[in-house]
Amino acid sequence: MSEPILIAEDLSRFYTVRRGLMRGTATVKALNGVSFSLLPGRTLAVVGESGCGKSTLARQLTLVETPSGGHLKIAGVDVAVADHAALKALRPQVQMVFQNPYASLNPRKTVGATLEEPLKLNTALSQAERRERVAQMIEIVGLRPEHVRRYPHMFSGGQRQRVAIARAMILQPRIVVADEPTSALDVSIQAQILNLFMDLQQQLGTSYVFISHNLAVVEHVADDVMVMYFGSTVEYGDRQTLYSLPLHPYTRALLSATPTIRAEDRRAKIKLQGELPSPLNPPGGCAFHTRCPYAIERCRAETPPLRPVLGRLVACHRAEDVAAEEGVNVPLQGAVA
Ligand SMILES: Nc1ncnc2c1ncn2[C@@H]1O[C@H](COP(=O)(O)OP(=O)(O)OP(=O)(O)O)[C@@H](O)[C@H]1O
Ligand SMILES: [Mg+2]
Repeated sequence: MSEPILIAEDLSRFYTVRRGLMRGTATVKALNGVSFSLLPGRTLAVVGESGCGKSTLARQLTLVETPSGGHLKIAGVDVAVADHAALKALRPQVQMVFQNPYASLNPRKTVGATLEEPLKLNTALSQAERRERVAQMIEIVGLRPEHVRRYPHMFSGGQRQRVAIARAMILQPRIVVADEPTSALDVSIQAQILNLFMDLQQQLGTSYVFISHNLAVVEHVADDVMVMYFGSTVEYGDRQTLYSLPLHPYTRALLSATPTIRAEDRRAKIKLQGELPSPLNPPGGCAFHTRCPYAIERCRAETPPLRPVLGRLVACHRAEDVAAEEGVNVPLQGAVA
């Protein structure tokens, strides 16, 4: 078994925000102690509603920001203690694809120039070699040779996202963090872009952290899935385990919200109750208790730890009861399965 390419341990990022005149400052715990690991060539999907900390996580993983706490190890390098040279060598290894390719591409540069730039900055390739690499990459992402002379506005949304993916991939990074890469695209184009991501992973062995608010989208690409709520992991496990028997009521609610025709998804629907609470004043106990149909007194009082239940990690006091409702009994801890 190979070593993880990415290990996050108790990773946090807090922001200080002004509350308004005379009211001082407050702390938003945008990312609050998240742990996971990612193997080479695999995909971790990170899922949750708006504001749960997905992009904050992406900014820590791509070294754009410095975490407030915890550890981040990328390709064997502990980011917190790495020196300048080690970090400089690491940066090209972690690339990012954004939701809106129009905003992430320079409108004044041709696609050829955009793709050549990272090669200029990070490699000693000659101009001819760079152009050759650009031409290869253009072909790999399904664009045509003449597209190198075009500007971003001359493409469709799907084509622009292909350009953004080509730019992220051209240095052959070990990890690509894709933050909602298909949510700005037409449904018909989304599948093409997802397939492109998967083809590239097959060819290049890249690891992905694939961020989405939609569990249905990531089902096709994920090996592992981490569901987040208010900066914390509420459920984390392999795709098959999570989709066949989601145990956290929040995961179940997210799945209920996506239309599906699969038989195994005809479980009781959970509707998310109420509004997302303010990040400046998250609920005590389990942060999800204000919207959770399973909430009991204990959920208001006691923060549930992330713990192993039926082959995944879940942070819910009532995970066993949820499983029992589905006709699955949880073996007692220590018992032989
Ligand atoms: N620079 C910042 N300063 C203050 N608060 C921030 C900052 N960046 C993010 N936040 C807050 O941190 C929380 C998480 O934000 P983040 O952008 O990571 O969420 P997200 O899951 O990516 O949401 P979306 O699905 O809308 O993109 C939010 O409450 C947000 O307001
Ligand atoms: Mg975001």
